[in-house]
Order: sequence, then C-alpha cells, then structure tokens
Amino acid sequence: MDRYSPVGVIDSGVGGLTVAKQLKRSLPNEDILYFGDSKNMPYGNRSRDEIVSLAEFMIDYLEEKGVKAILLACNTISTFIEDLHSGVRLISIVDAGIRAASSVCEEGESVGVIATKATVDSCSYEKANEKAGGRIKLITSASTSLPRIIDRQLQNTSLLTEKIRECISPILDEDPSITKLILGCSHFPIIKEEINAVYPFLNLIDPAACQVEMLRDYLRETDLLNYDNDGSDITLYTSGDESEFGLTLEKLRMSPLAINRV
Ligand code: DGL
Repeated sequence: MDRYSPVGVIDSGVGGLTVAKQLKRSLPNEDILYFGDSKNMPYGNRSRDEIVSLAEFMIDYLEEKGVKAILLACNTISTFIEDLHSGVRLISIVDAGIRAASSVCEEGESVGVIATKATVDSCSYEKANEKAGGRIKLITSASTSLPRIIDRQLQNTSLLTEKIRECISPILDEDPSITKLILGCSHFPIIKEEINAVYPFLNLIDPAACQVEMLRDYLRETDLLNYDNDGSDITLYTSGDESEFGLTLEKLRMSPLAINRV
C-alpha cells in the first residue's frame, strides 16, 4: 500500500455516493473504490450481527483490492465500528456528523438527528456526542422506510414527502425551536431539496465534508496523501443490479469509470 493506492468507500446502497462525491471534490487526486451492498439493503432494519458480517464482506473485498483506508459512508455500519475487523483505517461518519454539528451549534443547542432504526436504537450519535465533550443536545428520530425509497423509488416525490414528514415531525413536536438537523443516514443528503421543500427553516447538516477532512488528516499523518495523481477515478462495485445506481448518479451528476457486479 502506498499513496497511489485507492480509498475505499462503503455503504448499504447508493447513499455513500454523497460521500464519494465530496471526496472527489475535496481530495481530487485520490482514486475511489465504492462498494454499495444494494442486494442486502436496508441495513437499518437489520440486527447488529447481520450488519457487522455484511460490512466485513465489503471491507475484506476492498482490502483485497489494495485500498489504503475505508470511509464508512453509512451511519448504520459506523454504529458498529468497534466490532469491525479491518487491516486498514476505518473512518466513521457518525463521528463526522457530531464534529460537523458541534462546529455550527451553540453550546447546549438542541439539534435533530434523522437516521435508521439501527443507528437510533443503538444511540450511536449520543455516544459520539459524549465522546466529543457533549456540546450539543440531540433529539433523534428513525425512518424504517426512507433509505429504501431513496434507493429504489427516488422519483416518487409524494411518497418521499409523506415519509419525510413522518420522520421529522416527532423531532419538531418535542422541540419546536429546532433549526438544525443532522442527516444521520447517508441516503438523506440525496433528498436535501425534498426535505427543505417541506421544512424550509431547517439547516441540514451533512457529515460528508467532515468525514473527508478526517480522512485527509489521517492520510497526511501517515504520508499516504496522494499529491501528484493526474485526475482520479471512481469505480463502483454493487451486489445488486447495476441499473439501481442510475437515478442517484444522475441526480448527483457523477459518472464513474465502471460499475461492476460482485
Ligand atoms: N445509508 C445508510 C446509513 O447511512 C443506511 C441505509 C440502510 O438502511 O441500508 O445509515
């Protein structure tokens, strides 16, 4: 492994493309290998053991391809980071979400978090907040349906709107003064516009930029940052149908080098 090795990005499906896009923007010399486990999504309704074993399959696969670090671009996988075995550094998007929110919030401010059931049930945002000094107060809400709808029915705006309301309204019922919302599932930045169409006063916090900063710091410290590649590529791997990436790639204006079925 050296500075020319690619960076791995994993998610249960298309959600982590929001992170891959940020990675390409912030560290344009890094080649990216992206694995989306579309066949087995949604992870958010699965047990800890299932999530750990599915995530380890992707980690092993990308390690064999020679990645130098892996961004866990899935909050549900990051929730169980302590349980994952890996020979390369894994970077958690949950820690990044807390870092991003803490940098824009007042001390003690209440912030909403929307995430999957597994992420909310295991209190991973609350634990990461404690670890970071507990500067903010979190109110969480889970959606068991939104990630799958985003993955498979991105054009169904009326269904998205209904499920967005269902997920966010309990947070605002609990604290109507909330103005900031952490997108604690990497699928959610794909529907930022749809969320703001329903709740225009909410500032949406996307952890992706902070997660890429954490990667950059790690690569600098270990002398693995690629300074001199002439342009990077994204290669996608999916356990599902290659066509399932189409709508999201179009919406994010991304064009990978190749999409490979695993
Ligand atoms: N994108 C994943 C996350 O950030 C979850 C989607 C799923 O439930 O599979 O948590």
